[in-house]
Amino acid sequence: MKRRSFIQGAGTALASSVFASQSPTATKPNHPVAVASGNGLKSVELAVKQMLAGGDPLDAAVAGVNLVEEDPEDTSVGYGGLPNERGVVELDSCVMHGPTHNGGAVASLRNIKYPSRVARLVMKRTDHVLLVGQGALEFARAHGIPEENLLTEKARKIWLAWKESLSKGDDWLPPEDLTAQEPWLKKWYERFAKRHTGTINCCCVDKNGDIGGVTTTSGLAFKIPGRVGDSPILGAGLFLDNGYGACGSTGRGEANLLNLSSFLAVEEMRRGASPREAGLAACKRIVEHNRDPRLQKADGSPDFNVKFFLVNKAGDYAGCAIRDRGAKYAVCDENGPRLEELTVLYD
Ligand code: GLY
Repeated sequence: MKRRSFIQGAGTALASSVFASQSPTATKPNHPVAVASGNGLKSVELAVKQMLAGGDPLDAAVAGVNLVEEDPEDTSVGYGGLPNERGVVELDSCVMHGPTHNGGAVASLRNIKYPSRVARLVMKRTDHVLLVGQGALEFARAHGIPEENLLTEKARKIWLAWKESLSKGDDWLPPEDLTAQEPWLKKWYERFAKRHTGTINCCCVDKNGDIGGVTTTSGLAFKIPGRVGDSPILGAGLFLDNGYGACGSTGRGEANLLNLSSFLAVEEMRRGASPREAGLAACKRIVEHNRDPRLQKADGSPDFNVKFFLVNKAGDYAGCAIRDRGAKYAVCDENGPRLEELTVLYD
């Protein structure tokens, strides 16, 4: 047997055994569906509107999250996002397109308000998947994307309050009456003990059953410069398979990087799991692998949260999280945009 025909034959055998999984569902949703993190209520509404008008599911998802990237009030995404420890905003994003099974991503991107658009350009206009730092910025410049200062006054004041409250042993001194001058900062002092992550993920399925997804973030607040989270890493902060479904995530990125959780959830859907079962499986895998006592509560459960947003090819959707009972995620289908409660493992 010639080598090539042997390899082809072996491939056929493998496909029917090792890689056997439930075949792609023929079911299509009767209406486009978009699912997103809780900060994406307007995003899912716009995404579904665009898909109803015939828009591609990835373009719809990107248009949806652009609303949050440009919102100065969201301190976890794009313009207005909290900066790194030196006061510089560094953004991460990735996109994935179901019909072509292609993706693109940027990490540690500075000065660009819509990193999701740059991630989509990496997918469409390069032979690469991930560009980082200065290279990502130069690529954005090459495409004529304007640079701007992403550090809003609100984010700068939060960062400075964090920096001045870090240690009595350094040279940064907070003014005595800061919270009298800026009462809104009080709640931020309470949050400094808990590191702030945010992020928006949006996953869409159109009425043909085609899928697109995007995740975009300013990442962990006050991170070490150059720290990259899960949001620009395909398989961690986002993954999809056009035959089955999509999963995206927010929360502690390191946990998703160590478990490739979004890939895991999509694989679970390939094996026949519902979106809810798949999201809970990803949560449980993180719990199982979270062995560092520094990251555990007294009962051994994770001292952090990770949330998953899932939709399958038929338009069934779910939101799951490790903890935070009562927290919500956003969904839009034929019943319009709304917030629904996440299914959680722990209160
Ligand atoms: N999930 C966002 C981050 O950890 O950067």
